[in-house]
Amino acid sequence: MTMLEIRGLRHAYDGRTVLSVPSWDVAAGEASLVLGPSGSGKSTLLNVIAGLATPTEGSVRVGGEEVTRLAPAARDAFRARRVGLVLQTLHLVGVVSVRDNLRLAQRLAGCRVDDGRIDEVLAGLGIAALAGARASRLSVGEAQRVAIARAVVNRPSLLLADEPTSALDDANCARALSLLLDQAAACGATLLVATHDNRIRDRFARRLEL
Ligand SMILES: Nc1ncnc2c1ncn2[C@@H]1O[C@H](COP(=O)(O)OP(=O)(O)O)[C@@H](O)[C@H]1O
Ligand SMILES: [Mg+2]
Repeated sequence: MTMLEIRGLRHAYDGRTVLSVPSWDVAAGEASLVLGPSGSGKSTLLNVIAGLATPTEGSVRVGGEEVTRLAPAARDAFRARRVGLVLQTLHLVGVVSVRDNLRLAQRLAGCRVDDGRIDEVLAGLGIAALAGARASRLSVGEAQRVAIARAVVNRPSLLLADEPTSALDDANCARALSLLLDQAAACGATLLVATHDNRIRDRFARRLEL
């Protein structure tokens, strides 16, 4: 089954085209890399796929649903239900606990609060002990794991990560990538990682070069 189908995609800011993807398909459950230098349109592409931005031209289908045609409210519902996002800015809610950040993600997706699922995800990421910690107290590496936990807690069909390793040293780079791959596999999600980090290119069989 095709999870992602892109056709004739182009995006321009103020008349300047910054992204052009004539055709790209990703099968369900596959892990792929979107590779390109800074400014090549990687974040723009992830935003368009997640329905956070409307492209100038073309279509993006996720699981058969044409994201580019959805009205704003339907698009938000689609994102909450189907997409897990690990953006460069993690946007954790600093004043509440890690557990409450994950509960919030469940509530926003219209899911029942499920502490069992939260414990399972935190354990899988090696941060079970942080459940009660205030998000603002976490180290950068811990916060990134929590962001990954939040992205997968609702078992998305598509997991998108923007530059998840660029700021990390080699050991943490390998670890963060393994966590993303493991978590995607555990929920059967299609994983798309956007990066300019050449250290990780060989971990992916499928690559889109921008
Ligand atoms: N909101 C915006 N308004 C205008 N230009 C933008 C905006 N967002 C990104 N750009 C420009 O679009 C190009 C692609 O940006 P981006 O998708 O962030 O690339 P990447 O993630 O590969 O670094 C860059 O030249 C950037 O400056
Ligand atoms: Mg970017």
